[in-house]
Amino acid sequence: MAQTYHQLRLDLAAALALFLDPEEAHAECVLWFEEGLGLSRSWMVAHGTEQVPAEVRRRISGWVRRRKKGEPWAYILGSSAFRGRRFKVSPDTLIPRPETELLVEAALDVGHRLKVDRCVDVGTGSGIIAVSLALETDWQVSASDVSLGALATARENASTLGATVQFHEGHLLDPVPDPLGMVVANLPYVDPADQPTLQRELAFEPASALFAPDRGLALSDALLRQARARQAPACLLEIGAGQGGELCRRAMGMGWHKAMVHQDFAGHDRILIALM
Ligand SMILES: C[S@@+](CC[C@H](N)C(=O)[O-])C[C@H]1O[C@@H](n2cnc3c(N)ncnc32)[C@H](O)[C@@H]1O
Repeated sequence: MAQTYHQLRLDLAAALALFLDPEEAHAECVLWFEEGLGLSRSWMVAHGTEQVPAEVRRRISGWVRRRKKGEPWAYILGSSAFRGRRFKVSPDTLIPRPETELLVEAALDVGHRLKVDRCVDVGTGSGIIAVSLALETDWQVSASDVSLGALATARENASTLGATVQFHEGHLLDPVPDPLGMVVANLPYVDPADQPTLQRELAFEPASALFAPDRGLALSDALLRQARARQAPACLLEIGAGQGGELCRRAMGMGWHKAMVHQDFAGHDRILIALM
């Protein structure tokens, strides 16, 4: 049956509302039109009464089928926005989170105050932190990850966005040569015990990008220890809600001179800053 773009949008919002809450369904509907079909609100005002080609209807039906099974929109689209730039994402990479923008802002602030000239992003995933810092500073930026698939996507993002980043494969700082400069990381910090209670969308993201032993603290602890032993001037970590107190105590016990925690918009511990 023939269908206009206006009708398609109403039908899509109704289809999404069958398995998403109404606010989320509305927001995704807008995103699907803008990011997925490339149709802006102003295009809709001018062309909303035109007929939708069958091929577009088929694409939308395919997306609805995948979304209904819980696959996040960013994986269906194949990209996600971060600090105003578009990054490719793949099943090997975490989807960028808005909280990670706070980590990049803290890194810019601390890096400028300490006058660093280099930094390393550990657990780079799609490369959002490394690429953002490389494009927004004149620092030499390097990055590491244990996942070859993630590194391939990060390299592609750096190249597409015109950022110069040295990528290394391996555990934490092991593959990164001295001098390190400032260390920045959004490593896995979810407690594996929380897995059964998590949103079903998370099952589509790599477990190796989400979970860490020792109630989610193991990799943050190991990186703070490595960075301190290798004389990094600062180590900034994205952390989980409620992890700040314990990680600060551990950092001070490792010989960091100062350790502080910043909260996110919801008031949860989110960024740990350890300074020499
Ligand atoms: C939470 S994701 C973050 C990705 C990206 N930095 C971001 O903010 O979207 C964590 C990343 O750390 C990587 N990772 C896990 N264990 C690691 C380790 N021991 N050494 C280096 N990277 C690791 C994962 O492969 C994943 O890409």
